[in-house]
Amino acid sequence: MGPNCQGRALALTPPHLLLHPQLPAALLQRSPPPRHQQPPLLRLLLRRHRLGEAGPPLLHPRHPNGFSVLVTGVAGFVGSHCSLALKKRGDGVLGVDNFNSYYDPSLKRARQKVLSKHQVFIVEGDLNDAELLNKLFDMVPLSHILHLAAQAGVRYAMKNPLSYISSNVAGFVNLLEVAKAAQPQPAIVWASSSSVYGFPFSESDRTDQPASLYAATKKAGEEIAHTYNHIYGLSLTGLRFFTVYGSWGRPDMAYFFFTKDILQGKRINVYVTQDEKEVARDFTYIDDIVKGCLGALDTAEKSTGSGEKKRAPAQLRVYNLGNTAPVTVGKLVGILESLLTVKVKKHVIKMPRNDDVPFTHANAYRDFAHKPTTDLAAGLRKFVKWYVSYYGKGI
Ligand SMILES: NC(=O)c1ccc[n+]([C@@H]2O[C@H](COP(=O)([O-])OP(=O)(O)OC[C@H]3O[C@@H](n4cnc5c(N)ncnc54)[C@H](O)[C@@H]3O)[C@@H](O)[C@H]2O)c1
Repeated sequence: MGPNCQGRALALTPPHLLLHPQLPAALLQRSPPPRHQQPPLLRLLLRRHRLGEAGPPLLHPRHPNGFSVLVTGVAGFVGSHCSLALKKRGDGVLGVDNFNSYYDPSLKRARQKVLSKHQVFIVEGDLNDAELLNKLFDMVPLSHILHLAAQAGVRYAMKNPLSYISSNVAGFVNLLEVAKAAQPQPAIVWASSSSVYGFPFSESDRTDQPASLYAATKKAGEEIAHTYNHIYGLSLTGLRFFTVYGSWGRPDMAYFFFTKDILQGKRINVYVTQDEKEVARDFTYIDDIVKGCLGALDTAEKSTGSGEKKRAPAQLRVYNLGNTAPVTVGKLVGILESLLTVKVKKHVIKMPRNDDVPFTHANAYRDFAHKPTTDLAAGLRKFVKWYVSYYGKGI
């Protein structure tokens, strides 16, 4: 996402009035809110409707074969990047996000501003709000869902375990219920996680021993996806992301808070395993993840159900999306030291036993004709540049 964008917040607009390009007659039978309560876009749509003009192309793709995509978690790190990329290539995008406070919501609002500037329309709402999701599907012919909304992070499960169940299990089921009943059913690409693995990390390796509640809910998502594919003919592709990093990233991730702490002159905690081995991650730059998500959407086949019944076997896929080159956290810190020109004070501690996996490593890419191209030093350079332009050096 470019840093020079301004925006227009639309969160208060009732989605059923905001999103349909032509404001269908049935919808207009509901009385709109008084003029002074109407956000500018709604006023514009109503005026255009009165004048008999079509509304602006809010959701329609710019070309006949383009997609209309519902992006959940649109104000999140990955969701905001993917939405912009879809919009830029001409697809229609409608976003949903509940703007929860798992991390600083002002960062989500800042991403929202950037997206609004690019005509990505965002409805503020929760995955568990079936009425809202049904309204969106009633009003908008959505060809695809890119489902990225989730309770992310591993350690937060000690504090708020039910948030993982609510968003990653119940919320996912709610979305699938709505998708299965939609006419036509959309094809769905959604974010699983590399955390489903123990070790090693190829799609054929076992994933039935999750090391965290987060991983367990992602694994549950994969099983649930199988069920909805099997019974209702929904086309479903799960993407197991490997440690995504980059500009507009998540403040709860190590590369992000290391940067913050280093700039503040604080000592940082570097984990080693119980047997004192270095922890390593297959860090994957956001642009490579975006290419993978768009590649998955482009190769997704149509769902095959109608009237809530499967009419033929439908596509069901799971892929790793990772850089295939794990880097130790020590090396990550070394790169940050040289980019920030600061000598870091490190405190090496053992990773708690009930924590994340010590090592991740994606196997090679297949199918999407795309290989990650950004190495960690190049990606972190871009991240640090964004970080300093967004926060300054002082926070
Ligand atoms: N970033 C990574 O390294 C990584 C790695 C593996 C998997 N993933 C998965 O990728 C997806 C995107 O991750 P991210 O890094 O962008 O996280 P993020 O937290 O930045 O984005 C998720 C967004 O979803 C929203 N959300 C959460 N629960 C919701 C709900 N019930 N209803 C509506 N909105 C809700 C949040 O407000 C947030 O904006 C998630 O599914 C995550 O589990 C991410």
